[in-house]
Amino acid sequence: MEVTIPVPLRTLWEHEDHIVVIDQRKLPHQFVIEHVRSLKAAVWVIKEMVVRGAPLIACTGAYGVYFGLRDAQNSSDLEDILSELRNSRPTAVNLFNTMDRLEEELSKCQSLQEMRVKSLELARQIVEEDVEICRLIGVSGLPLIEAIHANNPERPVQILTHCNAGMLGCIEWGTISSPIYQANAKGIPVHVWVDETRPRNQGANLTAWELTQNGIGHTVIVDNTGGHLMQKGMVDLVIVGADRVTRNGDTANKIGTYLKALAAKDNKVPFYIALPSTTVDWKTFNGVKEIEIEERSPDEVKYVWGNNDKGEFERVLICPESSPALNIGFDVTPARLISGLITDRGICDSSEQGLLSLFPEKR
Ligand code: MRU
Repeated sequence: MEVTIPVPLRTLWEHEDHIVVIDQRKLPHQFVIEHVRSLKAAVWVIKEMVVRGAPLIACTGAYGVYFGLRDAQNSSDLEDILSELRNSRPTAVNLFNTMDRLEEELSKCQSLQEMRVKSLELARQIVEEDVEICRLIGVSGLPLIEAIHANNPERPVQILTHCNAGMLGCIEWGTISSPIYQANAKGIPVHVWVDETRPRNQGANLTAWELTQNGIGHTVIVDNTGGHLMQKGMVDLVIVGADRVTRNGDTANKIGTYLKALAAKDNKVPFYIALPSTTVDWKTFNGVKEIEIEERSPDEVKYVWGNNDKGEFERVLICPESSPALNIGFDVTPARLISGLITDRGICDSSEQGLLSLFPEKR
């Protein structure tokens, strides 16, 4: 049984003196919320992927800093609070960019009390900024969809995506989904090919659920189907999200993204990354060589979660129990395979020059 919720809804909201998030491990079968009241709880929801997706991880982390300071005895505890959060998940750079921003701002405070007030103010600001940034990604990406529709008005625009870079990975709108929702609102028919995205199935579980909630036509496919669909002319555009885009345009995203980029290149299908400016790692020059890739528990490969025929949520072993498994969370797509970067400031080439044309202050 699939759950329905009223939309629009945010993925994180304040309640009394704490925040509430959606337990994304349970969707689409159960809609369960989790109350996050402390630094420890914020680190736990990030590590366990109750919340996931680069922007949402960062927003949760920002509140984690506030909770840590609220419970702290001393302003010097800030260093430990930041390092606990920085050690929660290594690949998505939004968390690190946010921790750096908070560190810079909070180190100007004169007292622990001032830090508490400021950190809450900043967490709220970061959430609101994320909403606006994602809306603007939609404004930037919409013309791509409009152009495809104008060329071939006979069929819905066929978009393939991997993992979940929708609203569930952010606060509202999402990154790849923002142009899709904005095209849909303008009456442009869109159909999304949703990669299931093993091992944790964020595509099948989350993207498909989110598109269902928003009334967008879609079809779930196994991760190996994309290349075939592209050969048959059934994909007009690939848009995926990002966990880290380095200065040269190399992009870390959910494992399997690289293979989609290779197939897209071979079939001359445009392959775009939708990213908020908070996902750029300006300090790293070569993503393929330098990005730290998260490795997770082999159990995520060996077992899948789902609803059985009785509607009970259960875990199933899919290989010999004794077989070893390797669970690499992300891969890096080299900039040369990427047609362009869809950002909140417009679309640019996947290169340092391209990024700097939109963000000249980073020169
Ligand atoms: O491991 P996850 O589910 O956090 O991975 C998420 C992704 O790879 C997303 O595509 C990325 O964070 C972008 S979310 C807007």
